[in-house]
Amino acid sequence: MLRAIEERRSIRKYKATPVDRERIEEILRAACLAPSSKNRQPWQFVVAMGRSKEEMLFEMRKGLGRERVQPLLPGSIYHLAGAEFTLKVLESAPVVIFVVNPLAEALSRALNPEERVYEICNAQSLGAAMENMTLTATSLGLGSLWICDTFFAQRELNAWLGTRGELFAAMALGEPGETPAPRPRRALQEVVEWRL
Ligand SMILES: Cc1cc2nc3c(=O)[nH]c(=O)nc-3n(C[C@H](O)[C@H](O)[C@H](O)COP(=O)(O)O)c2cc1C
Repeated sequence: MLRAIEERRSIRKYKATPVDRERIEEILRAACLAPSSKNRQPWQFVVAMGRSKEEMLFEMRKGLGRERVQPLLPGSIYHLAGAEFTLKVLESAPVVIFVVNPLAEALSRALNPEERVYEICNAQSLGAAMENMTLTATSLGLGSLWICDTFFAQRELNAWLGTRGELFAAMALGEPGETPAPRPRRALQEVVEWRL
């Protein structure tokens, strides 16, 4: 097994040390080498650092505040406290990469089965790109956090990004400021059925 797969952890505390552009570019190159359905490569990346990151945080705070009073995800209201915590992680990370799906239908649009399959295939492709990013970060000695709590501020962040499609996820990056123990995993016997 690749060492990075075993060593990777979700890092939620970062040092303030800036990350050099070479390593960020290597992470982005790894993302672009991911397999994708029909080789559609349904991704765009926006790297936020410094002042741009502050602007982004302002939008995310605005979105979380709006979600409390005028939720677009009313069934997920109990996860808002978790999203506030993720916001703190984003504050401490020196780099945040936004991964946008330019081919996505609007989140609010109901889909027919074929459209859903198209979205699922693109989501799998984007997941592969995200995994390449987090593993490459680990192998370069960087901490990373895969983030979907951005969906609570989807409207605000999409407007800030100004890109076509929908924000898919974000990835925080930086020198790790913690060394978390591995989180438990379900046993193979529980998740695998061998049919011989
Ligand atoms: C699709 C996806 C979305 C995630 N979103 C968040 C998030 O918004 N905030 C957060 O703190 N962690 C987030 N995580 C990290 C998970 O909580 C973490 O991967 C899981 O608890 C296992 O821990 P590990 O990554 O250290 O092995 C996300 C992970 C994935 C794959």
